[in-house]
Formats: sequence, structure tokens, C-alpha cells
Amino acid sequence: MSEKRILLIIGGGIAAFKALLLIRLLAKRGIKTSAIITKAGEEFVTPLSVGGLSGEKVYTDLFSLSDEQEMGHIELSRSSDLVVVVPATADLMAKAARGLANDLASTTLLATDKRVLYAPAMNVRMWEHPATKRNMDILRENHALFVGPVEGDMACGEFGFGRMAEPEVITDAIEKILAGETNIDALQPKPLKGKHVLITAGPTREPIDPVRYLSNHSSGKQGYAIAKACQRLGAKVTLVSGPVAIAPPQNVNMVQVETARDMLAACENALPADVFISVAAVADWRAREAHDRKIKKDQQKLQPLALTENPDILHTLANGKNRPGLVIGFAAETDHVLKHAQAKLIKKNCDLIVANDVSIGAVGGDVMGGDNNKVIVVSKGGADAWPLMSKIAVAEKLAKKIVEILV
Ligand code: PMT
Repeated sequence: MSEKRILLIIGGGIAAFKALLLIRLLAKRGIKTSAIITKAGEEFVTPLSVGGLSGEKVYTDLFSLSDEQEMGHIELSRSSDLVVVVPATADLMAKAARGLANDLASTTLLATDKRVLYAPAMNVRMWEHPATKRNMDILRENHALFVGPVEGDMACGEFGFGRMAEPEVITDAIEKILAGETNIDALQPKPLKGKHVLITAGPTREPIDPVRYLSNHSSGKQGYAIAKACQRLGAKVTLVSGPVAIAPPQNVNMVQVETARDMLAACENALPADVFISVAAVADWRAREAHDRKIKKDQQKLQPLALTENPDILHTLANGKNRPGLVIGFAAETDHVLKHAQAKLIKKNCDLIVANDVSIGAVGGDVMGGDNNKVIVVSKGGADAWPLMSKIAVAEKLAKKIVEILV
């Protein structure tokens, strides 16, 4: 490999000190480092220590005349093979995602034509916040790469996801990318590789006549987030979805359906599966007769809408001869959440039930249709109440639980 160079952007977080070790590890592998330190980063490491290790001038100021004459911020990243952000703070990621450019680091991130590798590091609540997750999604769409974060003890005294990947792991990731690794997710572990995960999501729509239907407020956000999380961990994912207004996840086998009966048929068609996760808000009833002509107002007055029960997809799959090894149901409740979820666990023959309160404004906003969720994960062994978090964070935590159970 000819001599490689990275541009390291050091953000303002306690993990910034690890950037020093990173520079040394990279130097040992023959990779040169130019560095930018943000104003906040300078609270944790100094240009002197970074420059001492890299053997190069360190850049801090967007409006430094001498720096601009020597090497402008555009040239800084152009002359590197990869831009690496360590630690990638919530603030730096937000700026990069939204295209803000009010300091040297963010200006460089906006101006670069190189791949950018982020090593996020932040408090677990910040990591799980919907705003951070949205920013990550935008950065991923812009072909950014991520290494970490990992679960562990944090400087703030909490435990959870948000701890920065170790410098050795970041060094390995940098080396792989410089060697031409193009698969964005290839750097993450793939514990679900070889597993088929079947997921239902969204509402079903049950026709009454050509213009009317029975349905509910499910947006598909929770189910789609779970599909993405499982796919990122290497699973082959089939996502059977009712009608929703959100974009289908990438690298997932999508099956679009309308009614509960279509959804059941699509699920049965997708078997065998190792895991079935029933997130869809399936309409329990449908009109006994779907009229092929619009029902007239007067006609309906005389004849109230007759309903009939839909098949229970979860119950059918959990009790079928092709039963997936791990069956996870959801329970959407408005009262006695735990009690009803425990009853559903037994009645529907599930291994886990993820219960959520779908009362209006239950979690400070609505769960159905909203971005956040607060769930209780119920098994025969007990119940585990998770704190309020984004649906993306619920999905990541659930995918991790599936890994623990299966692998
Ligand atoms: O889509 P979002 O806006 O992100 O909202 C997410 C959600 C609130 C829809 C989701 O978190 C959720 O709770 N999904 C389950 C909705 C539901 O129908 O719950 P239930 O308690 O009525 O049904 C229990 C289980 O049986 C569920 O796994 C459901 O998918 C399944 N079921 C229900 C009826 C039926 N006919 N067939 C089924 O498979």
C-alpha cells in the first residue's frame, strides 16, 4: 500500500484523549495524520500534544490567515485519503448531517470529497435521542461510515451505548477502509449472519367499499426500525408491511400488503424463518362484505356495518408446524399493560412480548405514529421495563436481545 494519510478531526468529548493513542497506532502502521481540533476538543487535548505525536502542524482556526495561506481547509481534506472524526460528538454529527459550517471542523466536513468515518462518543441518553438517530441516518445516506459506539461504563457514571470504540478497533477500521472496503456496514459485527428474520409492520387496511376502509394510526416506524437494526447485524430480513408513508429500508426484502389476510399469506410464504417479530397493528376485524360499489348513505342507515374477525397472524405462525425458533409479539395496550401482555404471551404462544402503552400522549407524545416508545419486554421468566427512548433505540436494543438469545 502506498503511503496513506488521514485527516483526523478531534471533537470535544472526554474520549478525545484516545485520539492521541490513535495517532500513535496509525503511525506504527505507516499511516500519517493531519489533525484539526475543534474549540471544544482543545478543552481535552492540546495542539502541542497532537502535533508532537503526529509530527505535523495542527489546525484549529477557520479564520487563520497564515493557515489558509499554507493550506486552505478545502485542501486539508483533499490531500488526505480519509477523514476520521474522533470522538464524533452529538454536536459534530448534527452539524455534519445538517450541513452547518461555522468552524474549521464543520466547514471541512462539508467541503470534503473523501469518505468520512465517525467514531461516536456520547452519553447514552444523547446516543438514544431521536435527533441523534435521525442525524446518523442522514449521515449514512451520505455514505458516512461508523465504528462503534460500544456498550460500557461512561465517564458520566452511566452504563450503556455511547462509549467510543477503542483506538485499536478504530485503527483496524481505518486500515480496512484505506484498503478499499466499500461496504458501509462491513465494519460492524454481524452476529445475525445466516439468520432469517421475518417482521410485520404498519397497519392493515380492510376495505368496506371502493372508497372506505377500516385501519389504524400505525406508521410502521417501530417495525421498520427493527428491520433496519436486524439487517445491520447481518440478518436476512423479510419485512411484510401494510400501507405506510415511510421509505422502505435498504437491503431488506420488502413485501407490501393491504389486508390482514394478505399479510398472513405473505408471512406464510416467507417461512421458514429463525425469528418472527409481529409489530404490525393488524386490524382485528374486517367488513363482512367488501362492497364493490360505494355504499349509499341511506342504504347504510338501514343496514349497520357487519364485521367479521380477521385471522390472527401471530397466533397462526407461533402455533404452525413451521414455527420460527424465536417468536416475538407486540402488545398495544391502553390499560393494565403488563397484565394484558402476560396474557398475550401465553395465549399467542410467544417467547417474548414487547408491550407498549398506546393511550393518546402516553409517553409525552403518541406511541402510534410518534418517534418514541417506552416498552416492557415480557417473557415467561419476568418483565423488563425499558426507559423512554427513540423507536430506533428500542429497535437496536431488541436486536441486541435477539443476538443474546440466538447466538
Ligand atoms: O407503527 P408505529 O407508529 O411505529 O407504532 C408501533 C406500534 C404501536 C404499532 C407497535 O409498537 C405495536 O404495539 N404493535 C402491535 C400492535 C397490535 O396490534 O397489538 P395487539 O395487542 O392488538 O396485538 C398483539 C400481537 O398480535 C401483535 O404482535 C400483533 O402484531 C399481533 N396480531 C394482532 C391481531 C391479528 N389479527 N394478528 C396479529 O398478528
